Amino acid sequence: MKTLMSYLWMLLHQVLTCIFIKARSIMSINNGANYTLSWRFAIESNNLRSWPTVPRRCLPYIKTYMLGGQYQHDLDMVIAEMLTYMNSIILNNDGKDIWILDVDDTCISNLKYYERKNFGCDPFDRVMFKSWILEGSCPAIHSMLVFYKKLIERGFKVFLLTGRHEEQLGSITALNLLLQGYVGHERLILRSSKYKGQSAEKFKSAIRKEIEGEGYRIHGNVGDQWSDLTGESIGARTFKLPNPMYFVS
Ligand SMILES: *[C@@H]1O[C@H](CO)[C@@H](O)[C@H](O)[C@H]1NC(C)=O
Repeated sequence: MKTLMSYLWMLLHQVLTCIFIKARSIMSINNGANYTLSWRFAIESNNLRSWPTVPRRCLPYIKTYMLGGQYQHDLDMVIAEMLTYMNSIILNNDGKDIWILDVDDTCISNLKYYERKNFGCDPFDRVMFKSWILEGSCPAIHSMLVFYKKLIERGFKVFLLTGRHEEQLGSITALNLLLQGYVGHERLILRSSKYKGQSAEKFKSAIRKEIEGEGYRIHGNVGDQWSDLTGESIGARTFKLPNPMYFVS
């Protein structure tokens, strides 16, 4: 009798332990903070691709990330490395040493639009995004503007390359950049009708190839999307800026 009791007791103990461990592992899978850190690593490293929206459970963490300072810290670390690299380059002084910078969420910010879209948890709203762009009031990403000015000061030519459509958004984009202090770049290149419907990677690769064909040397290539930095003629070094709010292929 005694052995049976102790056997049953042991069994109960084991079952309870099992349930406890299982519950803990489910809890940890559902833990938003841990999940969001893993998710952010996966998207920023280009392991996870073509994600349509930010997972709902990440919302409070992405909001805190974007508004609470860590986004800025992450940006600043990349830009500090860009600066170190830039200072190490020996220029040829033939006007052919260039950097290529993306526009949206690299030079100027769409955070205000994304704040209204739950930091990317809501699906992309083509109409609302276009009207936001047409306001021409995307604010400069300040640390990037400072870097842009240093590039020009050191004698690099800066090419701004964006997937925005030239016909519809060309003049407002040029004006927005100017008003935010982006003055002195060599070229602003937008997506002409020739590249309509092409992926950002294909379009940007083709443009970079053309630029190299003109004899320019791409020393640095900066963007918040992997599609700014992959493909062909990507440049001597690429720099990925943080952006956990949307994915462009
Ligand atoms: C988050 O991860 C840490 C480290 O693995 C772990 O100790 C903690 O229990 C996790 N949080 C939750 C609520 O699961």
